[in-house]
Amino acid sequence: MNPDNPLQLLGGLTPREFLRDYWQKKPLLVRQAIPDFESPISPDELAGLALEEEVESRLVIEHGERPWELRRGPFAEDGFSQLPEKDWTLLVQAVDQFVPEVAELMEGFKFLPKWRIDDVMVSFAAPGGGVGPHFDNYDVFLLQGYGKRRWQVGQMCDSSSPLLEHSDLKILAEFAHTEEWVLEPGDMLYLPPLLAHCGTAEDDCMTYSVGFRAPSAAEVLTHFTDFLSQFLPEEERYSDADAQPTSDPHQIQHDSLDRLKALLNQHMGDERLLMTWFGQFMTEPRYPELVNGIEIDEEQFLDHIEAGAIIVRNPSARMAWSEVGDGLVLFASGHSRMLPANLREMLKLICSADALHIENLGRWLADDEGRLLVLELIKQGSLEFADE
Ligand code: SIN
Ligand code: CO
Repeated sequence: MNPDNPLQLLGGLTPREFLRDYWQKKPLLVRQAIPDFESPISPDELAGLALEEEVESRLVIEHGERPWELRRGPFAEDGFSQLPEKDWTLLVQAVDQFVPEVAELMEGFKFLPKWRIDDVMVSFAAPGGGVGPHFDNYDVFLLQGYGKRRWQVGQMCDSSSPLLEHSDLKILAEFAHTEEWVLEPGDMLYLPPLLAHCGTAEDDCMTYSVGFRAPSAAEVLTHFTDFLSQFLPEEERYSDADAQPTSDPHQIQHDSLDRLKALLNQHMGDERLLMTWFGQFMTEPRYPELVNGIEIDEEQFLDHIEAGAIIVRNPSARMAWSEVGDGLVLFASGHSRMLPANLREMLKLICSADALHIENLGRWLADDEGRLLVLELIKQGSLEFADE
């Protein structure tokens, strides 16, 4: 993707301009980001998904006296028929993992790293429905799929911003909007993290939220240090060879901190381990239970491929690749595998192709490492045979 080509999805901005002026900074409204956009799923199909055990869904109902009641799915079939005519929203997470046409929406965002995308949440709201004024810790692109929604944006918030008490949802106690827009199908609003916003359905409406993810500093530190500690032997300790005699045995001198900092820097600065951890962490699936491998040996695998089988990515798997030292590493669903540099094109193909088959994969299967990689990914569940 050329970062200097204007994109309709960004209202004619180039990816470079968008990243420079808006991304993580300020909202951007794009009218007709996807012209003639037709919602790939209907409200009934969304409601159907919310009945499924493996699908994460929420229903937010506004009542006059105790606003914003939260109910969690899966819901019973007759649950929706008892809903009032207005003031409620059904939100379904990660619809991209269950509906390929929704996953396709993410294709437009190739100017951002795929591993930064969390999921596509889809909401259906009856007139007046919304989840109340709130802020999110993540960037989001809100694409209007059906009907109209009024979006208001306000102040920047943080974890000290006052919230309404006794609410299961994190609703802001104070919200004074500074701008508002009514979005119609195909219109899109980008919101940076921490910006207060409130969306209210004008009529029956559906909104697609392409949501991003970024680990918190606390997560990075706790998870990376946990990962690192597996490689550190017991005998590697704080050490103070050449220490000076103490003048007061109760005082902790600053040279001890210097020794600690050297110990921390030595390990925290290990780029190879940091990359390995980060790739594994960022490709951990949202629903690990949906990444199930199969038992298959090399011969069976090759027989399938030669018979014309098609291999697809498991929609619940996440993949990324990187360079480490002179080699490459493929990350898939929280696992990593080191590979030689000559497999670069193969890694790119595996990460980006929708379908792998004898024609595009064949030449790589002659390579021992390449063949074993694909076999391993099938055994582990990140790749799977398409249903015939
Ligand atoms: C929605 O109601 O579709 C989106 C909720 C949000 O603002 O995050
Ligand atoms: Co939000």
